[in-house]
Amino acid sequence: MMKVLDTKLCLVLSVLCSVHFLVQFSHGGEDTIHRSQFPEGFLFGTSTSSYQIEGAYLEDGKGLTNWDVFSHTPGKIKHNDNGDIADDHYHRYLEDIELMSSLGVNAYRFSISWARILPRGIYGGINAKGIMFYNKIIDNLLLRGIEPFVTMHHHDLPQELEERYGGWLSPLIKRDFVHFAKICFESFGDRVKYWTTINEPNLFTEMAYVRGTYPPGHCSPPFGNCSVGNSDAEPLIAMHNALLSHAMAVHLYRNHFQAKQGGTVGIIANTFMYEPLRDEECDRLAADRALAFIIAWVFDPLVFGDYPIEMRNILGSRLPRFSSNEKSLIKGSLDFIGMNHYSTLYVKDCSCSACSSACSPAGDHAIRGFLETTGFRDGIPIGDLTGMPRFFVVPRGMEKIVDYMKTRYPNMPLFITENGYSAPPKQDAALHDFLQDFDRMKFHKAYLAALLRAIRKGADVRGYFIWSLMDNFEWVDGYGTRFGLYYVKRQTLERIPKISVKWFSSFLNFSTLTLENDLSKQDLKEQI
Ligand code: FCB
Repeated sequence: MMKVLDTKLCLVLSVLCSVHFLVQFSHGGEDTIHRSQFPEGFLFGTSTSSYQIEGAYLEDGKGLTNWDVFSHTPGKIKHNDNGDIADDHYHRYLEDIELMSSLGVNAYRFSISWARILPRGIYGGINAKGIMFYNKIIDNLLLRGIEPFVTMHHHDLPQELEERYGGWLSPLIKRDFVHFAKICFESFGDRVKYWTTINEPNLFTEMAYVRGTYPPGHCSPPFGNCSVGNSDAEPLIAMHNALLSHAMAVHLYRNHFQAKQGGTVGIIANTFMYEPLRDEECDRLAADRALAFIIAWVFDPLVFGDYPIEMRNILGSRLPRFSSNEKSLIKGSLDFIGMNHYSTLYVKDCSCSACSSACSPAGDHAIRGFLETTGFRDGIPIGDLTGMPRFFVVPRGMEKIVDYMKTRYPNMPLFITENGYSAPPKQDAALHDFLQDFDRMKFHKAYLAALLRAIRKGADVRGYFIWSLMDNFEWVDGYGTRFGLYYVKRQTLERIPKISVKWFSSFLNFSTLTLENDLSKQDLKEQI
């Protein structure tokens, strides 16, 4: 008798749970979000970068980039993948713009390949076919009501600049970058209203000069064993040159273009959120230090005119100094802040002997701010795992990082220039598994809900871009890590919509989400 009752109870409960889930998912759940809840004029877009999608790596006069050379070096990229063809966006840009138009986005963030415009940097001429390519992209976007949001440098640099003077390690890069920026403003500035100078200087300097996993592959112990490099000094020098290059390009824009063209210029940083690993004061301070060493490292100089005090206190004279002229050049050289946000990590202090047991040699290093980051507490991940070892699903981090930026940089407009999800690797995954990307959809709904909470508390957030429009070349991970709303079949390069395309376009095109336009009943049933 008891057993029969139990079974019946279980059945009733499971039906109730499914119904509750269905209702929550489609109508009234905490994570239910509508486009109309976001501020007037909010930009909703997708994001890509030149090397990751364009291909055509030696076509129509393009010069070689640092990534062309690096990815052709055996062993540097998973499966020795490279961006020679990538998504062949160079030839399929019209189709891709159609995809965006049917999604209903009102903005598209992409980057310009420096070596397509200036194959040899300042040491050669302008490649007219490169200019033509981006003109066609910009014009076709505008025809469909999509705002171009353009990044000038997204990791790919003309190889000649690397070979002649060491790229970002040399102050000569400033003159080269301003030359490139000037050509961009002259050629595209009549139509581009949103410029960002450099994507994630805090990430590429770490990868290129601390760990040596991005070109030019420099590092030194305890961070790695490269044949060249100094992990203690080079990232600081490269960042210094990047910040000054940014500021000089903004100065040029403000003095010669902004009044006529009416655009704005920002810079983009990689912005993890950090939480203390243990409920202890030293870990709380370490989490604050992580924010300063990784995020404020980029924005403090550009907003206030100098590096964060937290860095100066630890690094002293190893941290480069800005001259007084440079300080006045960099201070205030931002119209807005661009944030790429994916995840949150725990932080453990390595500075005070009382609580810094068992830090790795890298964590014990000043350049890291005497701290260590991890995604696990007592073996339990901070959020669901993804396809990237250091990316976990932690929606609350979106709200917290926006709060942090609002507090540290009051009155700065913010754009979430990247946010996205790649699924954990699955043995023998079939096409169907990739296309049924409910986890991606849930990820975006939860992160957007968190963003909305931050906006309601007063953050001036003006846009949100999904990384990425389509699966693409994910740097050292090659093509195996897929962030796209569209699946790209590697053999044919066909773009196939995943379930999240349905969700995103419903979100963008209907002011109220109902069961019918959020997702079809069938889709929801499949998930349950
Ligand atoms: C960011 C990069 C972007 C992409 C995503 C997953 O750090 O800016 O190009 O690789 O990560």
